[in-house]
Amino acid sequence: MQIMTVSSAIRDYQVVFAETMDFISELETTKDHYYVIDKKVWDLYGSSFKSLNTDLALILPISEEVKCLETVKTVYDALMKCSAKRNMTLISIGGGIIQDITGFVASTLYRGINWIYVPTTLLAQADSCIGSKTSLNYQGYKNLIGTFFPPTKVFINTAFLSTLESEDFYSGLGEVIKLYMIGGESSATAFIKEIDKIKERDRSALAKAIQEVLQIKLQYIQEDEFDTGRRNLLNFGHCLGHAVESTTNFLIPHGQAVLMGILFANIVAKNRGLLSKSRYEFLSRELILGNICVQHTSVLFNTDQIFEAMKKDKKRVGEGLALIMMLDDYSLKKFQDLQYDELAAGMKELGATLRVPTR
Ligand SMILES: NC(=O)c1ccc[n+]([C@@H]2O[C@H](COP(=O)([O-])OP(=O)(O)OC[C@H]3O[C@@H](n4cnc5c(N)ncnc54)[C@H](O)[C@@H]3O)[C@@H](O)[C@H]2O)c1
Ligand SMILES: [Zn+2]
Repeated sequence: MQIMTVSSAIRDYQVVFAETMDFISELETTKDHYYVIDKKVWDLYGSSFKSLNTDLALILPISEEVKCLETVKTVYDALMKCSAKRNMTLISIGGGIIQDITGFVASTLYRGINWIYVPTTLLAQADSCIGSKTSLNYQGYKNLIGTFFPPTKVFINTAFLSTLESEDFYSGLGEVIKLYMIGGESSATAFIKEIDKIKERDRSALAKAIQEVLQIKLQYIQEDEFDTGRRNLLNFGHCLGHAVESTTNFLIPHGQAVLMGILFANIVAKNRGLLSKSRYEFLSRELILGNICVQHTSVLFNTDQIFEAMKKDKKRVGEGLALIMMLDDYSLKKFQDLQYDELAAGMKELGATLRVPTR
């Protein structure tokens, strides 16, 4: 069993890479615990929890709509009903949505209770489970409300990933690719050799990749836990990605929108002469294009809507739109000067490359 320690201003915590389901016995013997579990995960893996007392568990059907204050209240009520105490432990099992809801509950109940998190999607295992962010959607705005609160412990077992729908797997893969690119030339080229095994969901290839990308992410979050500087570069691909998600009514899963955002940023960087044509083509061919699956025939890139959505970027400070670009040496730089015409030209090239209509 491998262990990674993450330091945080609130508390340091361990990420345990578990090869079997034996870690469940540690969960079941945790004093004063209460479970919140994604219903789909419970239906698939409930039989592994032999001594789970269902009176001490809330099984939640998951969708982006339930990532809201009403569900937080449902969890508070369930905890109060079984006399929640400050030293209790909330154990949550599921993907990024379960993480965001329960992380918010754990950070606010008694101003912070113990919280063990078992991520069950690729996105949550390879990205969101470290970094201390909790988020809720509010009045149609995604992730508007939130806190910084780390878990007490994280258990990662790649066995969960075998049952993910392809769409959810490829969403997580988008974030994995982003982190390998941020890791630089040697990390990106090493990953290219592994990518087929990862897509076959080979458990050891997945475990290795997850450990490697969490190490890359760690370098950014430990230096800037509260996201006031360098950590913002982890938003590579997200400037356009968020706009693509919202303007297509979330038809495109998050990590896939991020990959499209990376391709767009690389197009602009190439056209500005910041990224050589050969590097652009190498990254597109080896890492990006084969891993974007646009399944929805109804997807259309509407440049005007994307422009409006990017203007609302909560971290935008300059005159133009913000865009994080990769330079030829794989370093990242945030620009604040993207104007409408350059966006429109980039969108046209993106649409032609992905064979998605643009307007
Ligand atoms: N807090 C953060 O730092 C952070 C970072 C990135 C994303 N997020 C948030 O995470 C959410 C997306 O996370 P996600 O992609 O994990 O989505 P998710 O939690 O919605 O899970 C995706 C789907 O997979 C199902 N599922 C979960 N585990 C499964 C398993 N083992 N087998 C089969 N199906 C399974 C879920 O029921 C759901 O239908 C978004 O709301 C996003 O905003 C948070
Ligand atoms: Zn993301």
